[in-house]
Amino acid sequence: MDLKSHIRGVPDYPKPGILFYDISPLLAHSDAWAVAMGRMARLIQETGVDFIVGIESRGFLMAAPLALKLGLGFAMVRKKGKLPGDVVRHSYDLEYGSDTVEIQADLVKPGQRVVVVDDLLATGGTMNAAIKLLRDVGADVRAAAFLIELDFLEGRKKLDVPVLSLLNYDK
Ligand code: PRP
Ligand code: MG
Repeated sequence: MDLKSHIRGVPDYPKPGILFYDISPLLAHSDAWAVAMGRMARLIQETGVDFIVGIESRGFLMAAPLALKLGLGFAMVRKKGKLPGDVVRHSYDLEYGSDTVEIQADLVKPGQRVVVVDDLLATGGTMNAAIKLLRDVGADVRAAAFLIELDFLEGRKKLDVPVLSLLNYDK
């Protein structure tokens, strides 16, 4: 199945000059979503991880079905202020200003072999922050996995773990 035919390119969103890769048509097509999750699960299986972490919010749409499919536990990395109890946070710089990601302190065990999942790799800033956060809680981050990678933004250069991606775009 050609999964790219279920990804919609939306020009000039959210800003003029940006081509937005919209995963909504893929999610709306149950076979396409299932095929995508099957292919991602196979890539992840080869890494030998024992836990899945997803990044809010679109990353959850990939990470949760992958965790169920692989029979692994799942934890959420969320934007600040969304998780109750003891949380660990990591702040990172954006082009203008900064952002913070959080995880609950006791979910990932020290040394646990983790893959971090998001829908899309652009500049790599989001994934890099999530990986640093997970290392702060003692995780052994084995890979970063994406449905889509925007090769031309070279986000993988920011990441010091193996990058797994299913659909690559060069513009
Ligand atoms: C998008 C996308 C990735 C991130 C990629 O999320 O879902 O998480 O940006 O960009 P980067 O590689 O340059 O960091 P967004 O922040 O738009 O939020 P959402 O997932 O909640 O829609
Ligand atoms: Mg996102």
